[in-house]
Amino acid sequence: MPKVTFKKNRVLPEDLTVEAEPGETILEVAAERGIPVGSNCGGVCGCSTCHVYVAKGFDALDEMEDAEADRLDRAFDVKLNSRLGCQAEVTDEDLVIDITEESLKAYFDENPDVRKHFEATGEFKFVPHHHH
Ligand code: FES
Repeated sequence: MPKVTFKKNRVLPEDLTVEAEPGETILEVAAERGIPVGSNCGGVCGCSTCHVYVAKGFDALDEMEDAEADRLDRAFDVKLNSRLGCQAEVTDEDLVIDITEESLKAYFDENPDVRKHFEATGEFKFVPHHHH
């Protein structure tokens, strides 16, 4: 099974590697474990809060469709390796993902309890969610 590593950032104290199923989106992989990737629109390509950078494995991902490219145009700090987490599907190759600041902020906005806990203790609480 492919592995997806979420890189350490101001919220995650260390790199986190999890197993994924081919065909799952990066957002699904994150949400199932409570890894902080925003999803304001619920994963339907209607926002850009699931914006991530694919630090490794970008070329292995399925190609971006026009709707995703249009959404990404309106995201913050878009780079050549930007993808929307709810649109990019894992294949059989390992990935390394860098969650954007935009996405971390959105996650905290959507999960005020997790934010409160983080602000009070400096520790991130993993709250698994299921989409669909
Ligand atoms: Fe809204 Fe991905 S969650 S575009």
